[in-house]
Amino acid sequence: MKKQIGIVSIFCLLASNPSLLSQIAQEPPIYGSGDSSHPVVGRSGIVSSRDELSTKIGLDILKAGGNAIDAAVAVGFAMAVTTPQAGNLGGGGFMLVHHAETDTTIAIDYREKAPLGATRDMYLDEEGNVDPNKSRYSRMGAGVPGTVAGLAMALEKFGTLTLAEVIQPSINLAENGFPVDYDLYTSLKRGKENIQKLSPEAYSIYYHKDGRPYYPGEILKLPDLAKTLKAIASKGSDAFYKGSIAKLIARDMETNGGLITQKDLALYRPALREPVTGDFNGYQIASMPPPSSGGVHIVQMLNMLEPLDLSEYGHNSAKAIHLMAETMKYAYADRSKHLGDSDFNPVPVDWLVSKEYADSLRDKMNMDAATDSESIMPGTPPIEGPDTTHYNVIDKFGNAVANTYTINFSFGSKILVPGAGFFLNNEMDDFSAKPNVPNAYGLIGGEFNSIESEKRMLSSMTPTIVFKEGAPYLLCGGRGGSRIITAVLQVVLNVLEFDMNVSEAVAAPRVHHQWLPDQLRIEKTINTDTKSILESMGYELKAGFATGYTNAAMFEDGFFYGASDPRLPSGLAEGY
Ligand code: DON
Repeated sequence: MKKQIGIVSIFCLLASNPSLLSQIAQEPPIYGSGDSSHPVVGRSGIVSSRDELSTKIGLDILKAGGNAIDAAVAVGFAMAVTTPQAGNLGGGGFMLVHHAETDTTIAIDYREKAPLGATRDMYLDEEGNVDPNKSRYSRMGAGVPGTVAGLAMALEKFGTLTLAEVIQPSINLAENGFPVDYDLYTSLKRGKENIQKLSPEAYSIYYHKDGRPYYPGEILKLPDLAKTLKAIASKGSDAFYKGSIAKLIARDMETNGGLITQKDLALYRPALREPVTGDFNGYQIASMPPPSSGGVHIVQMLNMLEPLDLSEYGHNSAKAIHLMAETMKYAYADRSKHLGDSDFNPVPVDWLVSKEYADSLRDKMNMDAATDSESIMPGTPPIEGPDTTHYNVIDKFGNAVANTYTINFSFGSKILVPGAGFFLNNEMDDFSAKPNVPNAYGLIGGEFNSIESEKRMLSSMTPTIVFKEGAPYLLCGGRGGSRIITAVLQVVLNVLEFDMNVSEAVAAPRVHHQWLPDQLRIEKTINTDTKSILESMGYELKAGFATGYTNAAMFEDGFFYGASDPRLPSGLAEGY
């Protein structure tokens, strides 16, 4: 078990007198004695994201006296400029905020919504078959964006700076230009054919006249995006939902067969929700409720694993991987049936995250061999029961933000709103277009996730805060579609169960199972001995893209630690 360190109420003390920080943590934890990788360390705050420039912008805000929410909102806008393959204004996401002063933890749901004109069978062709091009590569695949409203809401509720102040660094980047990094370059290289075909506007911005994408180090200026950001900075999110930007979106939709209207945009509201909570070996877990499935299933899987003492078997031993894979199968089976937008259908959250339900599932688990996925059915709740980009910021006041937002695919639908300079999401593909037909991540969705106007599509995004003795201890989340939940599970277990520091926890090889297809995805660095044992237990192993990408931050013993996923070419955790 991770060593327990006495930091009772440290955040309450810091909130009333931040200068106390200098009196704490005279004795840093001793790393280096057997650790395979060291996290970044800070004394006064930490930001970890997949983008270097954005992390630095967040850190500048913290250094200047802003709080974690100010910094998180600034990072969100910055990544919309520097990381257009995932950071966005045209998408949506989920933010988990712990506000120290009021000792509250709240989930801001700014997931996209289906437009008013959306219908259940809108992606079916004449034969009744799903046409994935419609939900993935057309304006019909775009949900009503929530990012601008979500970030503005977070700032208004818990921030200390104005929208104009937190957006200014992003305006500077877009207007004066910024050096393209390797991550953006490779994404542009991969996306070239589709972007050229689907969005001449985007193609003319991100590629040179001879078709070369901007190369790492080349300075890219984004004047239209700068104009959009300036409008939001001066007029607030109304500029996006009711003003000039709403008009640009609606006009492009109307001309090109999309559904989003000015009315859809004017109607959009983010939702404040209670986080899903649970506990694991004395730590408290808070994560994202529906319409994300992330929080429900992270708590469900931790409940199933808690009594099994995985550390006894050793990290990534065949037995430990097997026990995790079994829990993943049961959780994803339940996801397929019970999860969706709880504003439309009751999701039996309390039952799914109860220790009793986890006990009943554990009783069904085969402890020694793989259970055939076909024999696992989603559970039945008692009748009376109710029912891709992540970053973290922790500040010296004890505030903490874990935020995941996305436009779904790399560059979303690949379609950029002409004149407005940002890509539109293709999040509608996360709905279940037809029962039992998998979406882009191979996920099977049920009735609760069918398309209805104004409904939010089911997500796997899992921004998570683990608390120790009531104070934020570990923040993490990730990207990778269906793999996000299992990646976050493993990062949390690596720290809480396998005694890893946050850098080791993020870097350690991971596995993924999602019930269907009945395959255990594994990273290639899982050793051959383990693979052979897993095969002998009945697993079909699939090597390759096994896991999501994660970022994590931690506060322990008066120090801040951070790590961004070494699986990515860019990314930066930095403290001060
Ligand atoms: O909400 C979801 O679950 C997906 N749209 C997330 C997409 C994603 O993580 C893509 N990143 N690689």
